[in-house]
Amino acid sequence: MGIIVAIDGPAGAGKSSTAKEVAFQLGFIYIDTGAMYRAVTLEVIRSNVDVSNENQVTLIAKKLNIQFRWINKYLRTFLNNEDVSDEIRSSEVADLVSPVSAIPGVRDVMVKCQRDMAKRDNIVMEGRDIGTNVFPSADFKFYLDADIDVRAKRRISDYKKIGQELTLKEIKKEIKIRDKIDSSRRYSPLKKAYNAIIIDTTNLSFKEQVEMIVNRVKKVLS
Ligand code: DC
Repeated sequence: MGIIVAIDGPAGAGKSSTAKEVAFQLGFIYIDTGAMYRAVTLEVIRSNVDVSNENQVTLIAKKLNIQFRWINKYLRTFLNNEDVSDEIRSSEVADLVSPVSAIPGVRDVMVKCQRDMAKRDNIVMEGRDIGTNVFPSADFKFYLDADIDVRAKRRISDYKKIGQELTLKEIKKEIKIRDKIDSSRRYSPLKKAYNAIIIDTTNLSFKEQVEMIVNRVKKVLS
């Protein structure tokens, strides 16, 4: 097992962009576990399966092949060899991803995959339950959070990139619903690990966020 840097937190706290840059600066492999739950959700939508049908949704998760590949400096998500990186960011997927990821069978499949990915390499893995459940003994644990308004504003530009125009109000509503489901589900909810370092990114620049994590890791490892 390599060195594990776990980064958890709610939607829009800056986890993905930060984790990606931290991994780059440390020379570690970056793993976006939210993208994995989003890929399962996309397949559920495409298959016309109702999210309340837990057995069917779990079956879909078991059959999927999810991979990450770097293409022209961008990390792309592949679902059964198809690049779905943009489609998994749509509001349709965002609206269903929390109920899908609350299904224990789906989580079991994803967590096993995530643990397998960390067997050989040093990794930065971001999500909701990495420091609490996937790797409770991770070498480093960070919990990123920020004001809801700041988080929603960040998501506006994410949606613009894929050609969706959502209002701040719509995004705030989506984030609040997701946060509620993600943190209140019975099976490995979003929760700060007791020994995680909290970073409030509300008033931090991207550079500062990255530096806080990278400096901490380098200091301990040196
Ligand atoms: O980080 P994100 O917004 O792409 O995550 C999408 C959803 O996936 C999130 O609302 C909850 C779920 N998720 C999870 O349950 N556990 C993880 N480790 C990562 C994401």
